[in-house]
Amino acid sequence: MTALPGKVNLAKSDRGFFLIIKMQQFDQDRVFLKPDREDGAFSVLQITDTHLFGKPGSTLVGIDTRKSLQAVVAAVKDQGIPFDFVVTTGDLSQDYTLESYVAFRDIMRAFSEPVFFLPGNHDDGPLMYREMAGLGISAARNIIIGKWQFVLLNTQVYNNPMGWILPEQLAYLEGCLEEHPDLYTAVCLHHNPFEVKCLWLDAHVLKNRDDLISLVSRYPRVRLVLCGHVHQEHDFIQNGVRYISSPSTSIQFAPLCDRFTLDALGPGWRYLKFTPDGGISTTVHRLAGGEFLPDFTVGGY
Ligand SMILES: [Fe+2]
Repeated sequence: MTALPGKVNLAKSDRGFFLIIKMQQFDQDRVFLKPDREDGAFSVLQITDTHLFGKPGSTLVGIDTRKSLQAVVAAVKDQGIPFDFVVTTGDLSQDYTLESYVAFRDIMRAFSEPVFFLPGNHDDGPLMYREMAGLGISAARNIIIGKWQFVLLNTQVYNNPMGWILPEQLAYLEGCLEEHPDLYTAVCLHHNPFEVKCLWLDAHVLKNRDDLISLVSRYPRVRLVLCGHVHQEHDFIQNGVRYISSPSTSIQFAPLCDRFTLDALGPGWRYLKFTPDGGISTTVHRLAGGEFLPDFTVGGY
């Protein structure tokens, strides 16, 4: 993995105009990576919805979320499947504490590959953007690698589980798309911009998803929209764009249930492989069922 240092430019973001120094430092907004493979293909590990607590031993619906994430990370290391970076798609915390993000950092230190994040509804987004760089986790929102770029968006609404994408976030995405019309693009966000046919989850969908979808539809090089939030696998193509959601490293939600319903499936993670011609292939992996079973008597979280 190589970061290309040294370029400087002026860019617009939701924090206004500012200098972006393209060096391997943790406060940059854009990161350049180079695929390790000579054919230009590369892979990404998606980890999502870790729901960590500041206090060790805390449980979410009966699961010690630090232990389940540690077990997932250990399984990934055991697999030895190469990947170029890790994208974490929100709900890293369950209690909004700095300590929960320190725990996240400590567990993710097992990886030598870069780790990127975006906020979910259970996160303290401002705290993350303020503190993660100091913890050694890149706060970059635009990752450029080979023939692809990844744009990491914030869809969090304060104190509300639903998602909403602000005009500033859409403008940031549009700016990335305009600046690099030659690159295939993966848009990453926490909230699913599609319904999953679970009434209780669909109440917390990305509410103004049409704004995102209509922007994406104007840029045919957008090939992927990748999210977390639903603690379920979804993978479909609509109007040439692939939409994917992935299992949590903590609790799983059963599909096609109108009320809160837990699933006995094990904590999971996803690999995605990207090719220079815009191709995507992906696999989901899980810990064996039974090792991290939730408390099925709990009616919500
Ligand atoms: Fe979650």
